[in-house]
Amino acid sequence: MTKAIAGFSKLSKEEKIDWIASTHFSNADDAVKTIKKYWNSDADLQKLHDEFIENTITNFYLPFGVAPNFVINGKNYTIPMTIEESSVVAAASKSAKFWSTRGGFKATVLNSEKIGQVHFMFSGDKGKLETFFVQIKSKLFSDTESITKNMQKRGGGILDIELRDKTAELENYYQLHATFETKDSMGANFINSCLEQFAKTLKEEALQFELFSATEKNIQVVMSILSNYVPNCIVRAEVSCPVQDLKEDKNISQEEFAEKFVRAVKIAEIEPYRAVTHNKGIMNGIDAVVLATGNDFRAVEAGIHAYASRSGKYSSLSHAKVENGIFTFWIEIPLALGTVGGLTSLHPLVKIALEMLGKPSAHELMQIVAVAGLAQNFAALRSLTTTGIQQGHMKMHLNNIINQFETTEAERALIKNHFKENTVSHSAVVDFIENLKK
Ligand code: MEV
Repeated sequence: MTKAIAGFSKLSKEEKIDWIASTHFSNADDAVKTIKKYWNSDADLQKLHDEFIENTITNFYLPFGVAPNFVINGKNYTIPMTIEESSVVAAASKSAKFWSTRGGFKATVLNSEKIGQVHFMFSGDKGKLETFFVQIKSKLFSDTESITKNMQKRGGGILDIELRDKTAELENYYQLHATFETKDSMGANFINSCLEQFAKTLKEEALQFELFSATEKNIQVVMSILSNYVPNCIVRAEVSCPVQDLKEDKNISQEEFAEKFVRAVKIAEIEPYRAVTHNKGIMNGIDAVVLATGNDFRAVEAGIHAYASRSGKYSSLSHAKVENGIFTFWIEIPLALGTVGGLTSLHPLVKIALEMLGKPSAHELMQIVAVAGLAQNFAALRSLTTTGIQQGHMKMHLNNIINQFETTEAERALIKNHFKENTVSHSAVVDFIENLKK
C-alpha cells in the first residue's frame, strides 16, 4: 500500500507524475512514458485540457466518430458520437440509413422547464410560513434581478417559485421549489446562483417577519441545488412507416418482424431486468452525442433513469405499436442540454461537434440526442429479434481482438476474410491467428 501524500495538488505536473510513477508502478519509466505519450504537442491545447479539472496528468482519449444520413424533421444531419463501444456508431449509421428512406425521424420538444430547490427546516406554525412566503415571493424575484437580467434578455428566467410542505415525510422539512427556463444553456450555474440568493433572502426576511416567534425566525437552510430530474423538459422522437415497408433480408417477413419488435418493446415495458438493458442500449446513442457536444452525461443519465421509474417500476423509455398496418416506434425522455456555456465554447472538439450539427439551439440538440437514442434502440432490437446481437457485435469487436496480437497487414486481411463467413469468438480468432503464425 502506498503512503498518503500531503499537498499533492500543489505539486507541478511533472512532480505529480514522478510521485505516482515511483509509488504505484513496478516499472516507473514505462508508466511515465505511457502517461506522457498522450500529452498534446500543442502546449496551449494541453494547458486548456489540464485546466478543465484538478491534478491532470495526461489526456484520456475516446474515439470521436460520426454517423451520417440522419434525417430529422426533414433536415440532414451527420451526428458526432464519442464512445468506446465498437458497434455503436455502425448501428446508428445503419438505423439512420434505414429510416432515411422511410420518412426519417420526427422529433418535438414538448416542454423545457428546469427545476431547482432550496431545502430548509422550519419548526413552527405552517400557516404563518405560508403567509410569510406569500409576502416575500416578489422579493425572491427582485433580489435575483442582477442574476436573471441576461437570461431574461434571451427569453428565459425564473418561471415560478412555490413553497412545498414535505413535513409528512421528514419532520420540519419544507422546500422552495422553483422552475426555470434557461433557453440554450443547460442552466446549472444560473439556477444554482438564483437558488442561493433565494436562500439568503429567505433567511434574512424570516428574521424580520413580525408574526414569527424567535424559533420560527430561525430558518435552517440545508442546501440549495438544481434537480437533475426534469420531467417537464421532455423531447419526443418517432419513426413510422407501413409494415410492408419494413423490408428485412433476415429470413423473416415484415409482419413477423413488426410483431416481434413490438413484443420485444412490450417485454421491456413490463420487465425491469430487460428494461435496464433495453434502456442501456438507448443510452449508448444518447451518451455518445451528449459527450461529443460537451454536455453533462451524468446529469442526463440520472434524470433519464429516474424518469424511467416514474410509475414506481423501472420501465422502457421507448414504445412501439402497429395500428392499421402502420408501424410506429417512439421515445419520450427528459433532457436538460445546453449549446452555450460550459464546455461548449471551450473544448475545440465540442465546437467541431456543434458546428457539424449546424450550431443547433438547445431544443434542436434535444431532438438530435433523442433521435440518436431511438436509432440505437431500433438497431439493437432489429438485431436481437432477427440474427441475434452477437453477429454484428463480434464482427465489430474483431478488430479489438486482432489488435491484441502483432499481425501484418496481409495477416489482418486473411483473418478478416476468414471471419466474414465464420462466427467470431475470442478463442476462434486466437486459434486462427496461432495457426496462421505456424
Ligand atoms: C449493448 O451495449 C446494448 C444492447 O444490450 C441493448 C439491448 O439489449 O437492447 C444490445
